[in-house]
Amino acid sequence: MPEEPPIGEILVQPDQLKERVRALGRQVSADYEGRDLLLVGVLKGAAFFLADLMRQITIECELDFMAVSSYGSDTDSSGVVRILKDLDAPIAGRDVLIVEDIIDSGLTLQYLMRNLGSRDPATLKVCSLLIKPERLKTEVAVDYVGFEIPNRFAIGYGLDFRQRWRNLPYVASLNREKVGV
Ligand code: IMP
Ligand code: MG
Repeated sequence: MPEEPPIGEILVQPDQLKERVRALGRQVSADYEGRDLLLVGVLKGAAFFLADLMRQITIECELDFMAVSSYGSDTDSSGVVRILKDLDAPIAGRDVLIVEDIIDSGLTLQYLMRNLGSRDPATLKVCSLLIKPERLKTEVAVDYVGFEIPNRFAIGYGLDFRQRWRNLPYVASLNREKVGV
């Protein structure tokens, strides 16, 4: 029998995800009309949100990816960020929109903003599916947010715990007791 997902409560249901992603796509399409939009997905977690968001964008846009790892424990990042995969192409003069799955401490995003900001994009903004306002340790401006969630470790719709559970069609809190953390 397949393993049961170690979830607590469901934080965002599939139809809420669908509706919000559609609205974000409309907003981005309106805001970037006539610009040179490049979506930069942060692997791996954002891949799911990004794929759905991009299909709701009705203007011309391009796609690139970065992969970063932030050292830390299973459920806390340290802010020490390492680039595992860099962008394929320069971004100078382009309108870059970073697409993230979740902003927790904000340290990963702070690093990405500094790093990409130093490459002379025309504009640099951020779209994150989720944000945990209670956990923010740094002042980061997030231009587009899907949902604010409480201070819980979340899994599903791209978010993992130890690389698992990204494939859940909803966002749920991790049941820490079940996984022993
Ligand atoms: P931050 O640097 O603390 O903002 O965390 C950034 C990264 O840690 C996110 O892009 C996620 O990959 C991961 N992360 C933070 N919170 C969660 C969570 O609740 N579930 C799964 N991954 C998370
Ligand atoms: Mg991430």
